[in-house]
Amino acid sequence: MAAVREPGRLLRVVHPRRASQAPSRGMTTSFDNAAQVLLPPEPGLRYLRSDRAAELTLEPGGITTNDYGRIESLEPTHTADIRVDATGCALLPGLVDCHTHLPFAGWRAQEYEQKVTGVPYEEISKAGGGIASSARALRETPDDEVLAQATQLATEMLAHGTTTFECKSGYGLSREGELRSLKLAAALDDRVPQTTTRTALLAHAVPSGYTTATWMDEVEAMVPDAVAAGATALDIFVESIAFGTQDLDRLGRLATDAGVALRAHVEQFSTMRSIPVALRHNARSLDHLSAIHPDDIGPLGASDTAAVLLPGAEFMGAEATAPARALIAAGAIMVLATDANPGTSPIFSLPLIVGLAVRRYGLSTREALLAVTLNAAYVMDLQRELGSIEPGKRGDLVLLDTPSEHLAYRLGRNPVAATFVAGEPVYVRPDAEWRIAGR
Ligand code: NIG
Ligand code: FE
Repeated sequence: MAAVREPGRLLRVVHPRRASQAPSRGMTTSFDNAAQVLLPPEPGLRYLRSDRAAELTLEPGGITTNDYGRIESLEPTHTADIRVDATGCALLPGLVDCHTHLPFAGWRAQEYEQKVTGVPYEEISKAGGGIASSARALRETPDDEVLAQATQLATEMLAHGTTTFECKSGYGLSREGELRSLKLAAALDDRVPQTTTRTALLAHAVPSGYTTATWMDEVEAMVPDAVAAGATALDIFVESIAFGTQDLDRLGRLATDAGVALRAHVEQFSTMRSIPVALRHNARSLDHLSAIHPDDIGPLGASDTAAVLLPGAEFMGAEATAPARALIAAGAIMVLATDANPGTSPIFSLPLIVGLAVRRYGLSTREALLAVTLNAAYVMDLQRELGSIEPGKRGDLVLLDTPSEHLAYRLGRNPVAATFVAGEPVYVRPDAEWRIAGR
């Protein structure tokens, strides 16, 4: 990958070895003298329920990655090819953003102005704005331009510590459009250093000329091609202006039959009582939850379905606050993500999301860190490979130039000094160059 420009300065970005490629012998890296290393309480966890977040440790230390890009030991090594001076820094697993709407075309800044000055989302949406306007933009934008925008955004994400992210279709709103979107997501995966997955959000808005039921017939016909295009999950927007719980029920059956995960946008604006339906289908995650019914908190918390909270969308849309503390008390696998999209959350920074979440939901640092690492990897079914610092996992790491408590406290500041994929630096902030020797 060529060097990439951020406003005003050149970032160092190099191609790492990719998870999808056969491992090749590369460099060993030692991370020395960190003020904090985030470690799980035990190896091999699929997830950690958020009421156990206090068991994560943030002790001083160092680690070594081997020449296959995997974490070799929880000790530094003096003979490593690359030496990283982590003095004063927090060393975390690479951040995992399990809910984004990449790739998309253009932006909707004028709608944001309408929204903040009082025009409701439903009204903007019914007047042809909202999802329909991003669908139009995607249809009218050639592949190379869509990919250029998405690649630039992935580079911004790298500079904010995100080493893994989800892509969704959902702005296609036709069979061809949805499959094109999944293909563009696959092409994006080839261009960026991050690990990505594809989710087919086939039921996002009801295209004109269809009812929810007739569009669900199209969805059913599309599922095999979406899975062939690499989708590992199906997704749906359950809302008064979109799909109903009967459509969620149908998508749940389709996901089970296709052998992929069920995910759903639920209880964002309206209380739809989607949770019992989704739990019957063992949904991998339920996302938004700002308007969740109190009776649904207990069953969700007791299940293996992750509760993905999206404080960026809540903040930008002045939505209700999801009951994070009640979900945690109920035992939930709580997760945070950006929901990065051109409408409700044009935010790509997980450090900012953590800052918003900590204040909005009343989270501890460890609860928030768990929610953007191991538990987010679980949503993407990547927890065996990444999401925590433990021997055998990929050396996807982020180095903060502060202790991790500053992540939320210094709201809006990006503390990421360097980001590593498979043990090798893929982003180094210019003022942190001195920390990395031997490249
Ligand atoms: O996750 N809620 C539905 N889908 C997106 C918004 C999409 C849009 O407005 O473009 C969300 O918030
Ligand atoms: Fe979303």
